[in-house]
Amino acid sequence: MESRVQAGYKSTAQFRCIACASTASETGTAFRCQTCGDLLEIVYPHWSEAFQPAALIELWRQRRATPLPLDQSGVWRFREILPPEIGEADVVTLREGNTPLYSLPRCAESAGVERLLAKHQGMNPTGSFKDTGMTVAASVAKQQGFRWVACASTGNTSASMSAYAARAGMRSLVLIPEGKISWGKLSQALDYGAVTCELQTDFDGCMRVLNEVVGRMPVYLLNSVNPYRIEGQKTAAFELMEQLNWQVPDHVIVPGGNLGNSSALGKAFFEMKQLGLISDLPKISIIQAEGANPLVRTMRETGGKKLIPVHPETMASAIRIGNPASWKKAVRVLEGTGGTVEQVSEAEIALAKAEIGADGIGCEPASAVTLAGLKKLVRQGFIKASESVVLILTGHLLKDPDFTLKFHRGDLFPSGDAQAPGVAQAQRKPMVLEATAAAVIRALEAADKRS
Ligand code: F0G
Repeated sequence: MESRVQAGYKSTAQFRCIACASTASETGTAFRCQTCGDLLEIVYPHWSEAFQPAALIELWRQRRATPLPLDQSGVWRFREILPPEIGEADVVTLREGNTPLYSLPRCAESAGVERLLAKHQGMNPTGSFKDTGMTVAASVAKQQGFRWVACASTGNTSASMSAYAARAGMRSLVLIPEGKISWGKLSQALDYGAVTCELQTDFDGCMRVLNEVVGRMPVYLLNSVNPYRIEGQKTAAFELMEQLNWQVPDHVIVPGGNLGNSSALGKAFFEMKQLGLISDLPKISIIQAEGANPLVRTMRETGGKKLIPVHPETMASAIRIGNPASWKKAVRVLEGTGGTVEQVSEAEIALAKAEIGADGIGCEPASAVTLAGLKKLVRQGFIKASESVVLILTGHLLKDPDFTLKFHRGDLFPSGDAQAPGVAQAQRKPMVLEATAAAVIRALEAADKRS
């Protein structure tokens, strides 16, 4: 790798336990603290001596114009804030990151805010934010000579992991809950060559089985308890700030499942402040589905002290998780940034998804909880109309076409729920017509009168 911004930067990454703060230069296979068993995070003790904020900003800007594969990746372009020990020859990249920041004018109006932006992480190579973390953790697996990588997943991690494993010439093992992931995501894992096991359990059950497999076989764990995943996922926040010319928004809203992503984005903002790249933090708020709300319950019922696991149920299958691994990291982000948690109903998620679609953007159901949550937070007065808000859209619209079709055809909800305010107006059912221009023109005129 090329030399650092300033000579003299010699630190390598260090692993630190999030609970007891013991440090280690190596992780076990399960990425747990050897002393107390909690999660590890990567820290960089010598950063502040090494970097000048203005020089970093300029270096990252210049890299946008070079043809080098590492610079064309929206993750590796920020390599100064990634673990330095990953050699360039081992980097597995699909040119991830570089995702667009869109304005959402109609959604802004319906939510009651003046400035609403969406960072669309679904525009990554495999269609979700997972690619930004996977490029880093898969590179480590390659560097360490692993033949097999593995994950438990609600779909997107498995799609991403199997793509990066295939690029690196590694084999991949995927554990998914049977019948509970979208076809789009399952088809990706198959196409990228994963050994795909559908287990008769939920995501949390898949995670339990996988932990045992990892303890017994030489496979490299690529779930977000792997702290290298979190490092890669941080870059989305650096890229966001670059796109905003380093002007910090008032609020960032992110969906919560296993809580790796909210942890990563929070870590990024804490580090940007530490490095002097920004002087304030945005409030980072985390939204869950009502039926899969362990963090919401944990915050409301224990003040973030003790996890309350739940039996998860939501049609936003990506976040159908009841026992999130990174809950303590997420609590720290909420407390450190002054953000909040909220939960949204199935009808609110479906409606918000259709509204994001109607702004010409689109996303998968789990991403739409952000807009549904924003509406609630505005109504509660936590977010003011004049404040700037960025939604993190985590997955592409085409990840779950079944959900979208059922919604617009009116088949998503058992009859009662479909009466939720606004749902009927947002449905855009396809019409079956006789094959004549007259029939089409009648449909066109009728639609024109309605809008
Ligand atoms: N949005 C999407 C589209 C996801 O796929 C996930 C998680 C989340 C949000 C929540 O992110 O877990 O970091 O809090 N999907 C994982 C998976 C669990 O297996 O694909 P989180």
